[in-house]
Amino acid sequence: MTTTFEMFDVHADDDVTMRELRRLLARCSDAALRSRCHGGTAGAARLLLEALPARADQLTVAAWTEQSMVGVASMIFDADGIEIAVLVEDAWQRRGAGTALATRLGEEAARDGALAVTASVGATNTAGLGLLRKVFPALAFAAPRDGLITAVCPVVTGGSR
Ligand SMILES: CC(C)(COP(=O)(O)OP(=O)(O)OC[C@H]1O[C@@H](n2cnc3c(N)ncnc32)[C@H](O)[C@@H]1OP(=O)(O)O)[C@@H](O)C(=O)NCCC(=O)NCCS
Repeated sequence: MTTTFEMFDVHADDDVTMRELRRLLARCSDAALRSRCHGGTAGAARLLLEALPARADQLTVAAWTEQSMVGVASMIFDADGIEIAVLVEDAWQRRGAGTALATRLGEEAARDGALAVTASVGATNTAGLGLLRKVFPALAFAAPRDGLITAVCPVVTGGSR
């Protein structure tokens, strides 16, 4: 059965959404958090991801079921372009939430006029690499560096809100 996820932007001044974000991060395994943030401690990853929505250089989007927030994805804008990253809580992985989130970010980037986004994934992160291949089939991988692979992911222009 296909699960449908609702997508909503996460704003730091929205207390209800931020509380749900903290609950989501508390449910994520240490391994998932470290994969999302490329190492470090799970505690540091939770702090980073909780602080992200307050930054001016980013957009954070959450995937919700009827009951709760089950995944969160961000795009960071800097002088080099747009970098995206996705996290889905363990119990909801492999059910399409990551695809929905990455697709949404790709659409946002295209609407912003970007031709591509980048994503950095651990070289052994099968799920992360598979997700990127699925959502951005025209992607190109750079050579692994320090255990990370950066993917350049062309986005399709002409999406509509
Ligand atoms: C990577 C991640 C976001 C994928 O989210 P998800 O909701 O499980 O992804 P989906 O269900 O939409 O799956 C999309 C594709 O990813 C690949 N994939 C996902 N999980 C996989 C796994 N455990 N093993 C192999 N491939 C996997 C598959 O190609 C899948 O497509 P398919 O189901 O049609 O075969 C999730 O595993 C996660 O949060 N991991 C920890 C954080 C992380 O590694 N983020 C990557 C940095 S961008």
